[in-house]
Amino acid sequence: MTKTELTQAFFRAFGPGAEPRAFFAGGRVNLIGEHVDYNGGHVLPCALTMGTWGLLRRRTDDRLRFYSLNFPQLGVLEGTLSNVRFQERNQWTNYVFGMLFALAERGIRLSSGFELLIFGNIPNGSGLSSSASLEVVSGAAFRACYDLDVTDMELAILGQRAENGFIGLNSGIMDQFSIAMGKEDAAVFLDTGTLRYEYVPVELGDHVILIMNTCKRRTLADSKYNERRSECESALKALQKALPVKDLASVDLRTFEANKHLIENETQRDRAEHVVYECARTVEACKKLRAGDLVSFGRLMDASHDSLRDLYAVSCRELDTLVAEARQCPGVLGARMTGAGFGGCAVAIVRKDAVDEVMERVGAAYEAAVGYPCAFYVASIGGGPREL
Ligand code: GLA
Repeated sequence: MTKTELTQAFFRAFGPGAEPRAFFAGGRVNLIGEHVDYNGGHVLPCALTMGTWGLLRRRTDDRLRFYSLNFPQLGVLEGTLSNVRFQERNQWTNYVFGMLFALAERGIRLSSGFELLIFGNIPNGSGLSSSASLEVVSGAAFRACYDLDVTDMELAILGQRAENGFIGLNSGIMDQFSIAMGKEDAAVFLDTGTLRYEYVPVELGDHVILIMNTCKRRTLADSKYNERRSECESALKALQKALPVKDLASVDLRTFEANKHLIENETQRDRAEHVVYECARTVEACKKLRAGDLVSFGRLMDASHDSLRDLYAVSCRELDTLVAEARQCPGVLGARMTGAGFGGCAVAIVRKDAVDEVMERVGAAYEAAVGYPCAFYVASIGGGPREL
């Protein structure tokens, strides 16, 4: 959709008047480093050019009016600045309220209400972070329209706070960080323990990043996500009885092998093993990417998926089918699930001239096995939030 079309939709939803200002924030795809961002590990995500548009116009009273072109059946949703709390009936606007909540925690209150129109082209529930994208675009719109003194990195922190403190998902910071700090054609190599980061050029030559969507709604994602997080915390506590470590990411492989018996609960031990090895894999994968060694990078992606499936138990039949089928295709260097899991998307590195055949083969095998089709997108890596 063009800015003009979005503006017209805005006037249709909220009536004529001053022109709204228009903002955009991307989605994200994580290349490797999964379920380590709440354990202090490194992650390697990229912002996508797919994302969320937000058009905002200030009001003079304290009313809040919302309209999403993705949920036209909901009509205009209403609220007020003085009533910022989580409510089921607020639907998708809870993520916007979450940003207001996170700002308020820092003593920042908007001086007036607003009208906000949203349009996104990230498939919902696809594991490409449509919610973090909505948080960041809302935050960027508030910042510009109300002259708030907030950096891009702070937008990410506010977004995570919205998830943790308002929505109730104890997520790490990877999604919001990669979206708020994204850079065109680069991955963000982020140390989630310190928030130190570097941009790593994604120069794949005759290869592309292929995203494969299971098109399965991620029903278990939230409850199981919080469960995984607390399993990691229990595993860490067990290790801390003997080791002075602040998080699982600070445990190196040798130390882990020598001490893993301290984690008596087998499930918790598996979870910790995934985290410790995934952290090491991600640092290694980043080196391979910098060196242009895509073959080794692909192998690490494969190992990441196997560990998420077998040790961390966040994959599912649909994701495993996509990954297994893709790996059998010529021209595929590696494939893994991406994001929280339990549905959503997988990601693969594929030779350009093999992409069509991969989509055809994987698509057919998936539909035969699962009973409905999957979807594919060739990833294009975008920058951070911006005003249009
Ligand atoms: C979700 C969370 C992230 C991260 C991933 C798994 O996307 O929001 O913080 O934990 O899952 O890597």
